[in-house]
This record gives sequence, C-alpha cells and structure tokens, in this order.
Amino acid sequence: MPRPTFQIPFLLCLTQICSSLNVSISLNAPQTAVSVSPSLLSFSIEQDRWTDWVGTTSRNEFFFNALDNYKQLTGEPPQIRIGANSEDHTNFNPNVEFAQLIFPAPSATVPYPEATNITVGDGYYATAKFLPPNTHVIWGLNLGQNNITSAFLNAKSLVKAFASPAIKDAGIKLDAIQIGNEADLYMNNGARPRTYNVTQYVKEWIAFATNVTAAVNLTPSSPTKLWGAGFAGSSHSTTGFSPQAIFEHGILASTPGSLVSTISQHRYSGSFCSGSAGLLQDLMTKSTIRGNLSSFTPDIAVVRAKGLDYVLGETNSYSCHGAPGVSNTAGAALWTLDYLLFATQIGISRVFFHEGIGFKYNLIQPATLTRSILDGSPLPSPLAPHIQPQYYAAIIAAEAIGSTGTTRAVELTISHSRVAGYAFYEGGTLVRALLINSQAFFVGDTQRESIHVDLGFLPTGANPRLPRTMDVKRLSIPHAEDTTGLRWGGQTYETSDARVSGELKVDRIDIANGVDIQGTEAVLLHFD
Ligand SMILES: *[C@@H]1O[C@H](CO)[C@@H](O)[C@H](O)[C@H]1NC(C)=O
Ligand SMILES: *[C@@H]1O[C@H](CO)[C@@H](O)[C@H](O)[C@H]1NC(C)=O
Ligand SMILES: *[C@@H]1O[C@H](CO)[C@@H](O)[C@H](O)[C@H]1NC(C)=O
Ligand SMILES: *[C@@H]1O[C@H](CO)[C@@H](O)[C@H](O)[C@H]1NC(C)=O
Ligand SMILES: *[C@@H]1O[C@H](CO)[C@@H](O)[C@H](O)[C@H]1NC(C)=O
Ligand SMILES: *[C@@H]1O[C@H](CO)[C@@H](O)[C@H](O)[C@H]1NC(C)=O
Repeated sequence: MPRPTFQIPFLLCLTQICSSLNVSISLNAPQTAVSVSPSLLSFSIEQDRWTDWVGTTSRNEFFFNALDNYKQLTGEPPQIRIGANSEDHTNFNPNVEFAQLIFPAPSATVPYPEATNITVGDGYYATAKFLPPNTHVIWGLNLGQNNITSAFLNAKSLVKAFASPAIKDAGIKLDAIQIGNEADLYMNNGARPRTYNVTQYVKEWIAFATNVTAAVNLTPSSPTKLWGAGFAGSSHSTTGFSPQAIFEHGILASTPGSLVSTISQHRYSGSFCSGSAGLLQDLMTKSTIRGNLSSFTPDIAVVRAKGLDYVLGETNSYSCHGAPGVSNTAGAALWTLDYLLFATQIGISRVFFHEGIGFKYNLIQPATLTRSILDGSPLPSPLAPHIQPQYYAAIIAAEAIGSTGTTRAVELTISHSRVAGYAFYEGGTLVRALLINSQAFFVGDTQRESIHVDLGFLPTGANPRLPRTMDVKRLSIPHAEDTTGLRWGGQTYETSDARVSGELKVDRIDIANGVDIQGTEAVLLHFD
C-alpha cells in the first residue's frame, strides 16, 4: 500500500481533519531515562500445551524463528515463563513420555480451553532444549491442587532437564521457579475454601518452597531463584493479596523466601468475551494504558525497596483468552507497543505476554489450528502456524531497543490524547524515537486523521551534533480491526516460517520537514 508523503500539511487539511504537534526530544539522555532490558518483551506460555510450542522430538521451527527474529535485533531472546492456569493442574508420572492432557469441550467463547488434567514426564521438561540458545526460563509448579508430591516430582524432573548437556550447552538457563499461579483466585475457583486468605497462602507457599528447594538443592548461591506473588490482582495493601501483604506475613524472612529474586504480578485490562470497535479504541487509548499500569506504582515501590526485581509475569489485553475482533487485531499491536514501553517508565523490568495455543491475544500461533479462534467453529481448511498483529510490536520494540544491551528510554512529553512517544539512548546519546498514533481508523471510516509532528531538540542553541536527517520506518496498518496485511518498513512477517519477507522501505527525510503520522500507525525515527 503506497503512502504519499505530504510535505505541506495544509493541503491535507483541506480534505481531512488534521492537527500538528511540536515534540521536543533531548539529545542527551535525561536523568529520568531508564535502562531497558533486551528481553523486555518476553512470553508467558500456558503450561498444558508447552510441547506444541517448542516441539517434542524435533524443534518447532516456526516458534524458534519467531523468537530468533527478536534475538537478532536485541541480542537476547525473549524470556519464557511456562505456567499459568494449567500449572495448577499438572501432575507427574515417570511413565509419561511428554504430556498427557484431558481437555474440557471447546465452546464458542472458549474455543481452545486449557487442559484440566495434565500429566507430564521427564521428556516434557527436556524439550526446553529446542528454545533459542541462551534463553532464560521460568517454570511454574502446582500449588493449586495442594499436593506436595506433585510439586516435588515436577521440580526434580525440571531441574534434571536443565542440568542435562543438551540444555546446559545451549546456554538455556532456569532463571526461576514459581510455586502456584494466581493463588488469590483459589478461593473462587474451588482450589481452596471460600475463607482462604493470605496468612494461609504464605504458610503453604513456605511449606512447598521448603520442600522443593531442598529437593533440588537450591541455595542462595544457585543461579536458579524463586519468583514470588504471581497474583491475578492486587489489594495494593497489607490486607488481601498483594506483594505488600505477603511481605507483611513474613514470606521473605522465611528460609526459601531468601531465594526470591523477583516479584511477578499479572494484569489484563479487563475481561470481555465479545468485542466491539469501542472496546478496541478503549484498549489502544493512551490514558487507559497508563491507568492500567500505573495502578501498580505502589506495589513496585515496595518491591524495589526490598531490592527485588519486578515483572509483569503474565499479561495481555483482555482475559477470556482475548476479546474476539479486538485482541487479535492490528489495533492491539499498537496497544502492545505503548503498554510495553510505558511499563519500563514505572519500574517494570520485563513484560511477559501470555499465550496459549489458539488464544485470541497471541503474538504467535505456533501450531496448526482447525477451529476458529474467534468462535470455535470448524475452519474450512487447517490454518498453518502464523504470527498475529501483536507480533509486529515485538519486532518494533526490539528495533527500538537495539543490540547494545545498554539502551535507556524515556517517554516523550506529548500533550495529545492519541499520540505517545519514546526516545531511546545509547551511551547517553539519542539514537531513535518512536511515535504511536492510537486513534483507531476502522473499515468504513471515511476520514483518516493525520497528525504532523515537528521535532525540536534540547538543548537548543549552536549544538554541533544537532541531527539534520532521519530515517523513518512505518508500521502501516490498513485498518485497526484488520488481522493481517500489516507492513513494517514495507516488510511482512506474515510468512510460513515467521521470517521477514519483502523489500525494506525506509524514508530518509529532513528533520526540519517533520513527520506525519496517521491514525493507527507507528513510526520509528532513526537519527544519525
Ligand atoms: C510549534 O512551534 C513553532 C515554533 O516555536 C510555533 O510557531 C508553533 O505555533 C508551534 N505549534 C504548535 C502546534 O504548538
Ligand atoms: C499427587 O501428585 C502425584 C504426582 O503428580 C500423583 O501421582 C497423585 O495422584 C496426586 N495425588 C492426588 C490425591 O491427586
Ligand atoms: C487425571 O488423570 C489421571 C490419569 O489419567 C487420573 O487418574 C485422574 O483421576 C484424573 N484427575 C482428574 C481430576 O480428572
Ligand atoms: C518433600 O515431599 C516429598 C513428597 O511428599 C517427600 O517425599 C519429601 O521427603 C519431602 N522433602 C522434604 C525435604 O520435606
Ligand atoms: C486468615 O484466616 C485465619 C484462620 O481463620 C486467621 O487466623 C487469620 O488471621 C486470617 N488472616 C487474615 C489476614 O485475615
Ligand atoms: C484499563 O483499560 C481498559 C481498556 O482497555 C479501561 O476500560 C480501564 O478503565 C482501564 N483501567 C484503569 C484502571 O485505567
């Protein structure tokens, strides 16, 4: 889709709504710029169908390539957390080769349900060898079924796999073990009585963690740590379930508590099992993204004060595995990008986007699907592995972060409700800036608003290093609700092997001309 470049925005204004903005960017990293991990974008994967992602007897090339594309840009593959809902239904049986799964019937709202009964054997954990070299992994153990034998046997098999030459020699590391998923929901989902509270949870966690860490000989000098919390929500206080509450109840003071390196919390922006254009615009909106993430600010402060790392260990747009026609669309790609980068600004180290086979909000669909992800209806023909629109956000973020391992980022101050932006610094010097216009442009909309952005640099004055030209790379999106047809710098990742295809298109322009950004578009500016 060719896109005209409007040198004179006034011509455009005659036929379309338009506006213009001045954005100032500091040439040198401001104090407020934060370090951004090369694996900022990471994945949380539903534990039941793990081997459908990674492979059993040979690696899943599609999944490998999708992760490797990211690694080629930042130097580090996304981290992989395996766990979630099905983690609390996983048993161990040494006679099972990989995994035995029992699924409930699919429905229109849940076309790809999690298995309710998962029995794994040694081969299940050993498949981690198919991940890209140097991948860091976090694996969840079953606390939900309150069966310490299950946690004990799974932990032994897990640690045995990561000590094997096939995994060790590839530099694939077990960063952490997580015990139980979203224990704050146990009182509602039948895993515990209605009266279950944080006092009981901390007691159980300590008992399980004591057993598991002894079983696999984890000590404070081991490279493998524990993740704490992993709750679905937060009371943000010392009552209810929150990091504050588990600290108050002495989790960190316990012997296994001293092995906790990281606090993980989970977030979905809401739960919608049906979608609409309004819901998509709501998801993409700058203020709602900030509202959802900023709610964690008090939790992050408490966690950081304890010297612990803080991650969103499981997140995505809307629970219900995503809202149909919303979570699986191009608009959600812009949500992903802004959500991911805004998270860095409030002290979140890494964002693990949750994925399951056939889930609507996936970045990657690594297995052939035979039912519609939207309503569970049989597909006329099987749908081969493919990426979904949000995957472009992973690639764009990876390009913005770059491969130095020392990049810092700061959100740009932009007084516009639809335009967000970030500047990226290497060695303290401005190298790139990203602008996102989250005004949803839908099929049937007649006017596509374009905003003209003029860039000003700070400090002003006779700076000899003032950039004069920049390369502009666009994420072109036909419509917010489209599920295919996106192009990043003219190229596509909608290929059979997840590798990029097509001719790269980047415009080199005079900075003095500024840049136009349409509704539902993102642009990455590379400065010399
Ligand atoms: C942008 O800055 C220029 C020069 O300072 C000024 O003339 C113009 O009015 C500003 N535009 C906006 C939209 O603030
Ligand atoms: C406890 O877990 C073990 C190992 O996963 C399993 O064999 C056993 O059946 C479980 N016990 C119960 C009561 O579910
Ligand atoms: C899970 O599967 C095992 C092995 O097939 C079986 O023994 C057990 O009863 C099942 N548990 C549930 C809750 O369905
Ligand atoms: C952990 O639990 C298992 C299974 O119940 C048991 O065999 C083992 O002795 C326990 N280990 C410790 C250190 O309590
Ligand atoms: C949780 O319940 C137990 C048992 O009823 C009680 O002793 C404890 O005080 C409760 N804890 C909180 C935080 O309410
Ligand atoms: C979270 O985002 C949703 C839209 O996706 C919005 O409706 C909701 O109000 C936001 N929550 C907060 C606390 O800002």
